[in-house]
Amino acid sequence: MFGKKKSIPEIDKNQLELIENAQKRIKQKKRLYAHFVIFLIGAVFLIIANTVLGIGKDFKLFDIDWFVFAILLWLFLFIYHLLNVFVTNKFMGKAWEKEQLDKLVAKQQERIEKLKAGFVKEETLMAQSEVYNDTQNKTTKSTKSELTIIVAAAENDAIGLGNKLIWHLSNDLKRFKALTNGHHIIMGRKTFESFPKPLPNRTHVVITRQRDYNVPQGVIIVHSLKDAIDASKNDSQPFIIGGGQIYKQAMSLVDKIELTRVHHDFDADTYFPEIDSTVWKETANTFHKKDEGHDYEFSFLTYERK
Ligand SMILES: NC(=O)c1ccc[n+]([C@@H]2O[C@H](COP(=O)([O-])OP(=O)(O)OC[C@H]3O[C@@H](n4cnc5c(N)ncnc54)[C@H](OP(=O)(O)O)[C@@H]3O)[C@@H](O)[C@H]2O)c1
Repeated sequence: MFGKKKSIPEIDKNQLELIENAQKRIKQKKRLYAHFVIFLIGAVFLIIANTVLGIGKDFKLFDIDWFVFAILLWLFLFIYHLLNVFVTNKFMGKAWEKEQLDKLVAKQQERIEKLKAGFVKEETLMAQSEVYNDTQNKTTKSTKSELTIIVAAAENDAIGLGNKLIWHLSNDLKRFKALTNGHHIIMGRKTFESFPKPLPNRTHVVITRQRDYNVPQGVIIVHSLKDAIDASKNDSQPFIIGGGQIYKQAMSLVDKIELTRVHHDFDADTYFPEIDSTVWKETANTFHKKDEGHDYEFSFLTYERK
């Protein structure tokens, strides 16, 4: 209430000055037009007064009627007024316009600079928040489990016969051991029973509908795939290791497939589901030739969700 008088912003002062000058100019021209009209009427009046009404009929200078001198004098005054408006006292002319334009351009430039500075500040804040979000996402990702299927399948998708593997490929077993080492391995009851004994350094999670299924100490028993995944949630990469029934149920849930494709067709009673190329993209592919330790050619393939 008792504060300083509110200052008018610079841009308003300029606009005010422009408006005031425009008003002055209009008034100036209006006066000139009024003068011109009065001059015309006055000239006609003087002519009528002298020639019709006979006022000062006998007053002549150099044998010329007085009203001629009066009109000429008035015309001179009008021309003087005209020159005053359009030459001597002319404002809002080209120079004035340029000056106003320069002022406005400078003002706009100043505003652009201010806006630019604002944008830079905003962009910096946005970039900072993007980095923050990125970091947050990375942190979230790193805590999320990457549920992975690991499987060896023939060209015709065969994976087992008589509850046994169909082939022996030592490099495939080495890869299985290396990848699953230290992780949870989720499997169906039948696959579990296909092992002579639990594999070392892995947490076995066995799925069965049997409520009284007995297993060695350390093996976790669950009664659904969901419970198996829940039991492995603290593992950064739990593996679904089979067999056919469990692979089928897990296909829509896993993030990754580590496949050993054995380049041969086999008779089998258990198969791996088809890998839908619209859902999965191949991200790694290493081919191995047939040799002394390997009766078949095979490839190590990695698939990730698109
Ligand atoms: N090539 C490879 O990479 C590979 C890998 C693994 C296995 N295999 C082969 O695959 C064959 C075994 O596969 P499989 O399909 O026959 O059996 P599986 O998937 O290993 O196990 C099936 C059993 O899991 C339990 N189960 C399945 N779904 C369940 C659910 N939704 N809820 C609760 N329990 C469930 C049932 O146990 P209960 O009957 O006890 O209820 C069912 O009989 C073998 O030949 C094995 O050698 C191959």
